[in-house]
Amino acid sequence: MSLLQASVQQMRLEADGVVSVELRPTDGGEFPPFDAGAHIDLHLANGLVRNYSLLNSSTERHRYVIGVLRDRATRGGSRYVHETLRVGATLPISAPRNNFPLHEGAEHSVLIAGGIGVTPILSMGRRLRELGGSFELIYFARSRASAAFLNELQALGAQITTHFDDEAGGPPDLRALLEAHRPHAGLHLYACGPAPLLDAFERHAAEFGHTNAHIERFAAVEQKPAEGARATYVVHLAKTGRTLQVTPGTSLLDQLLESGVQVDHSCCEGVCGTCQTSVLEGTPDHRDSILTAKERASGKLMMVCVSGCKSEWLVLDL
Ligand code: FES
Repeated sequence: MSLLQASVQQMRLEADGVVSVELRPTDGGEFPPFDAGAHIDLHLANGLVRNYSLLNSSTERHRYVIGVLRDRATRGGSRYVHETLRVGATLPISAPRNNFPLHEGAEHSVLIAGGIGVTPILSMGRRLRELGGSFELIYFARSRASAAFLNELQALGAQITTHFDDEAGGPPDLRALLEAHRPHAGLHLYACGPAPLLDAFERHAAEFGHTNAHIERFAAVEQKPAEGARATYVVHLAKTGRTLQVTPGTSLLDQLLESGVQVDHSCCEGVCGTCQTSVLEGTPDHRDSILTAKERASGKLMMVCVSGCKSEWLVLDL
């Protein structure tokens, strides 16, 4: 995958610990188009690659805008953005990729943001407003001061429910908020935020029969090998005709790269979707945090950075 060259046009403090970064093409032209919910990878000068959701309107081609929370548990990506990245710097970025697509024809959409999970939700809200779609917003944050882009959400003109833990004296009652919506085919619910919020969202959406419930995770959910997963297996590469063996302690991605097979990758944790690969034969052991239950069951796709294999061999479209 070829990278785009971007320069930092503007950085702004949006809330406690959150900066927005506006990127422009270095050649003054246009970036590739994106759909609401998409993210890009930043290739930082410290060698880290980190993905961030785009928060601006998907009609814009002259810029990409992201929001970055300074994460205390950072492995260096958000610290680099906050402390080192500055206006005028140039950096390579990936083209947008979307694991969290908006169903634009929905009768009604409920957009739920927790903390910095507001970024793709903001872009989705902007898109729905542009389309004249029916939608509402729910925004949870630890405090009002840490709630980035609250004004932008309010400016969308949709009904908005906010919950600030410090003012409310505790966490929100997500169950009650989901129970208040009658499930039907035209209703789509989206959530992005920290893992406990998304876990609760998935649990309560299933409890109330919300079948159109979509999430995007920023952090991987650790998934252990399934029962029957093989420690050693053979991989045939259909396009190149090569055969590799994956042995214990090595990921499929590592084995492919060590063998000189070019596979795009970024997070290496099963959350960004960059390494998604088509499976032609065999049974993957899915350990990613992206694929839907239907996609997993089809066995046609896998994230080679984290997933394994339950059959003796896999045939990949590489
Ligand atoms: Fe991100 Fe595999 S590299 S999902």
